[in-house]
Amino acid sequence: MWTYDNPVRIRFGVGSLDGIGELIHGRAYCLVTYDEAMFRDIARRIAAIAGPATLTIDNVIPNPDFHTLTESCARFAAAQPAPEVIVALGGGSVIDAAKVVAAGGNGFGAVKRFLEDGVGEEALTSIPIVAIPTTAGTGSEVTSWASVWNTDSGRKYSLSRRSLYATDALIDPELMLGMPRALTVSTALDALSHSLESIWNVNGNPVSTNHAVNAATEILECLPGLADDLENLDLRVRIAHAATFAGLAFSNTKTALAHSISYPITLRHGTPHGIACSFSLPMVMRSVIGASEACDTGLRRIFGSDLVAGADRLEEFLVTLGVSVDKADYGIDDGEWREMIETAMTGERGRNFIGSQERVTESLGAVKR
Ligand SMILES: [Fe+2]
Repeated sequence: MWTYDNPVRIRFGVGSLDGIGELIHGRAYCLVTYDEAMFRDIARRIAAIAGPATLTIDNVIPNPDFHTLTESCARFAAAQPAPEVIVALGGGSVIDAAKVVAAGGNGFGAVKRFLEDGVGEEALTSIPIVAIPTTAGTGSEVTSWASVWNTDSGRKYSLSRRSLYATDALIDPELMLGMPRALTVSTALDALSHSLESIWNVNGNPVSTNHAVNAATEILECLPGLADDLENLDLRVRIAHAATFAGLAFSNTKTALAHSISYPITLRHGTPHGIACSFSLPMVMRSVIGASEACDTGLRRIFGSDLVAGADRLEEFLVTLGVSVDKADYGIDDGEWREMIETAMTGERGRNFIGSQERVTESLGAVKR
């Protein structure tokens, strides 16, 4: 028995930003975005269609932390008139920050208490969100959680509530044309990781796996071409499709071991999320072959009948894109790596992984080159 559920209304297509007026529908809106010229240009387009934002929050940093989120929530709480909807324009960090503001409409204190102590959910707010992703990979526009980082204590939290699903995701691949190569590659690899992590997952089901297979197949086929041809709109569309499918897949399963391993790597070594959660994928894949018939079947639909050769191809794919699969290149030594794997296996996301700790430990050596 299984269930699959995702309430986000998706509007996808080149030029779909022009339909933003129908989604805002005359409501007072708060725009959450980055303080960069290209986002200000898109914000002006939105304002020309839907009127000016009541409030613009543009202090978003990569991996939003307690400090900036405290400031964002305070500004939202003080805004007059009170925004009725939040428009999130940007990558995963913007959409995650928008989700925190949607829950922390009365101030970040309530969110902090809920994250740290698991209490006080009744003090959280539920402001509707329209998400406009400008990268293809995060999936945050179709999930009900946000990553929140306490950089002081070195902890990563997940704020997870059903009301954090955006009401609408407006996905316009044209907005992704300006993204540089490194960001294009790392975000697409994040989506690849979401796909595979939803397959080797205790929460996997036929719908999530089907979305994941479609997503991973497209990313493996299209990403090398896009990395060398960043203005190719057809490839941008295909990668944006794939990222959406990957998002729909892991919206119902959450992630697993590769993501669990990635968080301390990002916190301690500053590795971008999409790289931190994908360079270990070949190792994780080798460790899970044979663990479950459903997982093997899903992986065979992507990699063909020989999954060992498939893991080798996956490694080659990453290396060809310039992504090292050697932990040492991320500043991680043997001792830290072993500690990271052990901690990751017992973490919340790690417990979603269907494989065994023994097999994972065994395949560690496979990461070394
Ligand atoms: Fe991710």
